[in-house]
Amino acid sequence: MDFFDVINNRRSVRRYTETKVPDEIIRKALDAALKAPNSSNMQAWEFYWVKSAENKSALVDACLFQGTARQASQLIVVVSRIDTWKRNRNLLIQQMQKDAPINGQIKDYYYKIIPFLYTQDPFGILGTLKYLILNTVGLFRPIFRRPAHRSDLFEVVTKSAALACENFMLAIAAQGFGSCPMEGFDEHRVKKILKLNYQSRVVMVISVGETAPDGIFGPQYRIDPKLVVHEV
Ligand SMILES: Cc1cc2nc3c(=O)[nH]c(=O)nc-3n(C[C@H](O)[C@H](O)[C@H](O)COP(=O)(O)O)c2cc1C
Repeated sequence: MDFFDVINNRRSVRRYTETKVPDEIIRKALDAALKAPNSSNMQAWEFYWVKSAENKSALVDACLFQGTARQASQLIVVVSRIDTWKRNRNLLIQQMQKDAPINGQIKDYYYKIIPFLYTQDPFGILGTLKYLILNTVGLFRPIFRRPAHRSDLFEVVTKSAALACENFMLAIAAQGFGSCPMEGFDEHRVKKILKLNYQSRVVMVISVGETAPDGIFGPQYRIDPKLVVHEV
């Protein structure tokens, strides 16, 4: 399928047939998800491919019994995390060092700036300090103002995870299957099923299946691009 055919064919699917989606399709889509651009290449995401019948049933309940979750052949939960950056940074540096020694700006970036941005304390004191520092420096020269607070950091990692979600769904469409992203879920319950801590956020639950003949609810409505695309 041509790239733009994939874009045009992807729709949110609310009804699936009973056909099982082969694991190979999911693996390929997960591989595409992992290739998504992501902030500082920190890859602060996780993908929970929910396979056990017990977890699946609990997840459908936590997705507020949505039909797209109930009828899905496969369910994937995409999670963003603010506590895996150090491990990922070290693994990344190890890989990079196999090709060339890390020094200069790259070393400073990964060993000074990344820890500055990602380190948080449970009381938000560091966040407030960072906010003050960044905004004071920003009076005199251009500087990134965020992430300062913990919530900013969650925004950073969640943006990247959302890009991975899109890669995943496009890869599912490219292989002839349907998907639906969901944020209609009880996050507390989803986290409990997956045993996730407070340093993680459930970004989306994605259902996957073979699209039923009545699985897409109507045409793809979009507002006039003039309202949202600005040439400045
Ligand atoms: C972050 C996000 C959350 C969504 N949550 C749900 C959901 O819980 N249930 C659902 O049926 N669709 C959900 N959708 C699908 C949207 O309703 C859908 O993308 C939108 O109506 C446009 O339709 P299209 O995807 O077919 O172009 C979600 C989409 C996104 C991006």
